[in-house]
Amino acid sequence: MPEKVTLAVAGLGTVGSAVLRQLRDNADVVAARCGGRRVEVVAVSARDRNRDRGVALDGLAWHRDALELADVEDVDIVVELVGGEDGVARALIEKALRAGRHVVTANKAACAHHGVAFAELAQAGGVQLRFEAAIAGGVPVVKSIKEALAGNRIRELRGILNGTCNYILTNMTQSRCSYGEALAEAQRLGYAEADPTLDVEGVDAAHKLALLSTLAFRHRPAFDAVQVEGIKVVTQEDIGFAREFGYEIRLLATARQHDGNEIEQWVRPALVPRDSLLAHMQNARNGVSLRGDFGGNLFLAGDGAGGEATASAVVADIIDIAAGRRVFPLGEALSSLPECSALPPSRSQGCFYLRLHAADRAGSMAAITRELAAAEISIERIIQTSTPAHDGDAQAHAGRLPVALLTHETREEVMRRVLGGLAERRDIVASPLLLRVEAR
Ligand code: HSE
Repeated sequence: MPEKVTLAVAGLGTVGSAVLRQLRDNADVVAARCGGRRVEVVAVSARDRNRDRGVALDGLAWHRDALELADVEDVDIVVELVGGEDGVARALIEKALRAGRHVVTANKAACAHHGVAFAELAQAGGVQLRFEAAIAGGVPVVKSIKEALAGNRIRELRGILNGTCNYILTNMTQSRCSYGEALAEAQRLGYAEADPTLDVEGVDAAHKLALLSTLAFRHRPAFDAVQVEGIKVVTQEDIGFAREFGYEIRLLATARQHDGNEIEQWVRPALVPRDSLLAHMQNARNGVSLRGDFGGNLFLAGDGAGGEATASAVVADIIDIAAGRRVFPLGEALSSLPECSALPPSRSQGCFYLRLHAADRAGSMAAITRELAAAEISIERIIQTSTPAHDGDAQAHAGRLPVALLTHETREEVMRRVLGGLAERRDIVASPLLLRVEAR
């Protein structure tokens, strides 16, 4: 093997800068783990040449056009940290793979949408495409599924896959700050995407889930099959009710294999038991639980966002390639990966949290329970308060009684039908909220 491996890095934002710093500060560890090969960055591309990144860029070839990095002579690995589903990021990945370079990327959007095309190029060119950093930052979940659990049939995976949303929800819970204040702080800390709507609307987590489901359940990525709902619907009142029921609200990503190999994938705010490992994920922590048929239950946790944690995963991928380790980009040869057979939403079922505000008059509560009973939905617990106990907005709630309930297991389709019926009643004077409850 040659004594060094050379890199071109596109994107020197929070993650790219941290990759350069890690390669500099831990050069001895990195080289040792590459069997003595030095890892050398030779070329970079970023918008602003003069920004202080805490790392010297002297001696590196600077390219304004990231696509040029695929042409730099003798570059072994192109590291794509530009981000975005299409545009420069996608073009660079494809060009680099076609040029016979290995690619390491943190780009969940591009991999979730174009993963098959990328994998085809990588397989055809006999090069590696690695994306550990795309999912859950520093948590080695891709490697765990593709390698550590390689001989298992995964039965279920659940995760908190977006640091920004977790930061917002845990801060709204702990310090009772507003959604806007928590989001601004998450952005300041560098957790959020350039466009934070991708985070808060659940799209970022859905990209990650689509990739994890691909690896775990052995199908081609199917982003469009992921049911997605963001966190903006969650209020202080819901956080308070959830706590009274013994739960925390998290943006939960879930993929399950049902009979007949149908895959259910969703990302949505959900209630998780307060004593569960998922509920213990605070701030930008990510956590993933996996159930393998032989490996049993595993839980991986760590920092899911931020420069250093994500850089740690990028550098691990670089080391794997430099050390000559080979894995299929999507876990196995594309020829053995079928399209995803998605569970029709009408067959999805679970337990639910329903919150609504009922008119403060005789019969309102009876109307709610009657609608549920008519649909054969059984209530597990119910709370009605006579004051706006959880959000303190007394004026907005004048004449309304907040009601929250948990149901036993039922089909979501039936639950939504009931909700539609309730929303049309005069007794219900504010938009109801329906969330999943993950009891285990
Ligand atoms: N915006 C992402 C998050 C960064 O908040 O989790 C890591 O993918």
